Amino acid sequence: MVTDQDFQLFLYALKTSSKYDFSEYSEKSLKRRLIKVLTDNKLTVSAFINKLKNDADFVERTIKEITVNTTELFRDPQVWHAIRYAILPKLKSNSVINIWHAGCSTGQEVYSMMIILNEMGLLEKTKIYATDINTDVIDQAKKGEYKYRFNIGYLDNFDKVIKENPYNYEEYYDVPYEKYFSIDKGADSIKMNNFLREKPIYKKHDLVKETNTLYVKFDIIFCRNVIIYFNYNLQSRVFDLFQRNLYDSGCLILGMHETILGSYSVKFQKKGHAYYKN
Ligand SMILES: C[S@@+](CC[C@H](N)C(=O)[O-])C[C@H]1O[C@@H](n2cnc3c(N)ncnc32)[C@H](O)[C@@H]1O
Repeated sequence: MVTDQDFQLFLYALKTSSKYDFSEYSEKSLKRRLIKVLTDNKLTVSAFINKLKNDADFVERTIKEITVNTTELFRDPQVWHAIRYAILPKLKSNSVINIWHAGCSTGQEVYSMMIILNEMGLLEKTKIYATDINTDVIDQAKKGEYKYRFNIGYLDNFDKVIKENPYNYEEYYDVPYEKYFSIDKGADSIKMNNFLREKPIYKKHDLVKETNTLYVKFDIIFCRNVIIYFNYNLQSRVFDLFQRNLYDSGCLILGMHETILGSYSVKFQKKGHAYYKN
C-alpha cells in the first residue's frame, strides 16, 4: 500500500537527490509502477526512499523499472500505412530528412520506420535520431534482437504494412522479411539486419528537461505512447518543445490514444494520424 503522502515523499526524494523529476507524470500509472518496484525489491517505502537518497545506481535502476517500455514492430499498422502513403510522399524531394523518435524504447518503432523508408528509397538520405530516458532499452534497440516466441505478430504486421496497400487492393509487394531481419526459431530470436542496426543515432534524453540536445530540426517527430504517462502541464511543455523543433512543414506523430488538447491544439493541425505544425 502506497499512501498519497508516501507517493509525495517518493517524488520529492527523487527530485531533490537525483537529476530526475517525475512529479508531472500522471499519478495513477506511476503509483502502480511504484508499488511493483517496492514489491519486487521487497522494500518498505521509507527504506526505498532512503536508498534513493543515498545510492545513485539504485536511482538509475528505479527509473528503468518505473518507466513502461511496451512496444512492437509496426504497432498500429494503420498509422504506418498513413506514414507510407500520406506523410512520406511529401518529403520525397527533400535533400535530407530528419526524424526523431522520442521515447524509442527497445527500437521496434525505429526499425519500422527504417524499413518503410528503405522500401520508398528514402533511407539513405534520412538521418534517424532515437532517444529514451532509459539506457537499458537504448542498448536493446542498438542490438536489434527480440524474442521470436513473444513476437510472432511482428510477421503479420510486416505483411500488412509492407506487402499490402489498403488504399489500392490491387497493389501487392512480395517483399521477403529476410530483407530486413532474420528469424532463428531454435534460438528464439528475431534479429534486425546490420544495415538497419547501424543507421540510427541513439542518445539518452529526458523529455522532462524540454531541451533539444540533438541540435537539428526535424521533418517528423515520433512521440508515441509516451505523453500518456505525463500530466497536462508536462504534455503542454513537451508539445512546445516539439513545435519549436519541427520544420514549418514538419509533423508530430503521437500514439493512437494520445491527442493534443488545450492551448497547444491551435499550434498544430491534425491531418489523419499526423499533427502538422501550424
Ligand atoms: C510505452 S514506450 C513507447 C515506445 C514506442 N514509442 C511505441 O510507441 O511503441 C514509452 C517509452 O517512453 C520512455 N520515457 C518515459 N519517460 C520519458 C522521458 N521523460 N523522456 C524520454 N523518454 C521517456 C520510456 O522509457 C519508454 O521506453
